Amino acid sequence: LLPLPVSPELLTLKQSLGNGNNNNPSSFPPNFLFGTASSAYQYEGGYLSDGKGLNNWDVYTHRPGKVIDGSNGDVAVDHYHRYLEDIDLMESLGVNSYRFSISWARILPKGRFGNVNVAGIDFYNNLIDALLLRGIKPFVTLTHIDLPQEIEDRYGSWLSPESQLDFAYFADICFKSFGDRVKYWVTFNEPNFQVKFGYREGNFPPSRCSFPFGNCTNGDSEKEPFIAAHNIILSHAAAVHIYRSKYQEAALESLSMQHDPIVFGRYPPEMQSTLGSILPEFSKTEKEMLKKGLDFIGINHYSSYYVQDCMFTACEPGTGTSKTEGLWAQSYQKNGIPIGEPIITDVKKRFKNTPMIITENGYGEVTKANSTIEDSLQDVNRAKYMAGYLDSLSTAIRKGADVRGYFAWSLLDNFEWEYGFTRRFGLHHVDFKTLKRTPKFSATWYKNFIAEHGKVK
Ligand code: NOJ
Repeated sequence: LLPLPVSPELLTLKQSLGNGNNNNPSSFPPNFLFGTASSAYQYEGGYLSDGKGLNNWDVYTHRPGKVIDGSNGDVAVDHYHRYLEDIDLMESLGVNSYRFSISWARILPKGRFGNVNVAGIDFYNNLIDALLLRGIKPFVTLTHIDLPQEIEDRYGSWLSPESQLDFAYFADICFKSFGDRVKYWVTFNEPNFQVKFGYREGNFPPSRCSFPFGNCTNGDSEKEPFIAAHNIILSHAAAVHIYRSKYQEAALESLSMQHDPIVFGRYPPEMQSTLGSILPEFSKTEKEMLKKGLDFIGINHYSSYYVQDCMFTACEPGTGTSKTEGLWAQSYQKNGIPIGEPIITDVKKRFKNTPMIITENGYGEVTKANSTIEDSLQDVNRAKYMAGYLDSLSTAIRKGADVRGYFAWSLLDNFEWEYGFTRRFGLHHVDFKTLKRTPKFSATWYKNFIAEHGKVK
């Protein structure tokens, strides 16, 4: 990592943050995963390279008006061709894990209705091997919101129970091809948002919309989001079943978010009473299958909010509370520390201290019209936010939460879905024209933090 030119003010901050703020170094257990996270569509590019098929995001972003700056992930940050350079950056940070997702259409260009693309398997084999050579554990999400367009075209993907067969088929191929080296699997990333944006508000493919204020014509059935969620949950269960019955018994597996059904085999009681017959039901066999559904809970944790009953009192933030400004990180803070800890402690209680992994945490900034690269590189707010969050996390761990890892979103600035390239979350700045990567202040800060708090590589 190149040393960054930093001002004396930043150096002081760097030292206080680098010292872990008021972190107790011993609260991150040995072998705690410190990593960065990414996803295939947001990073890879190479959208037609070496036999990859079209996926739902390739098709969606090519339709006018879907992404605010008119961009798409055709090239993204070209991780497909530059992954070795990116692994160099990870090594400089000293991370011991990398969370990435597999592009389903790179492995199965036509889903289960066509052949396996051997070049796609080669790409992930090369990536995994290169990571392992540097002591970086691969942490793999099977799908991060993308799927082969074929599955969409045939029967509307998650709206059909057929999708469960598609996912199970894809998962089996991934377990078989990479499971000898990959020990951490996540089935779905943020299925809650995938369903909300894709089937309720219309700003993700397939742009279905049952919500009156959504980004498409109102009129699709209000049941659709729940049908899509139901098929995703059962797809998760199908993949877990394959994994447990055919592959390594003991490795970890999770569905990031939406945990009630896969821990308890039912929807949360609050949902059942509010939604009544809109909510699909699980059969007896499905319930049993669901209960075997996870070894750790993956949490993408950006924001934490206080909820207050203001029916009879004025709603005022408590003493010492303030709100951070970052995108997705507009969480409340108490005396400068994000209030993440109560949330982690709550998940701990609700799910009987099932191991937890923070699969994403990060700080986004809107690229301002006249901002220079230098502005972007001096990202003190990002470092402060991450330091505060990690501090809060270490408090949760000290209070007994079984947290096993933390992944910063993200190693690089990248393609932020409907916001295209107008939002930056990276520890490294990417010039989207030349694709040059440059470490920001937060990269140096994270490196120092890991050096101090990470125990075993
Ligand atoms: C969570 C999503 O998983 C990821 O794709 C997205 O880029 C980040 N949040 C930031 O919005």
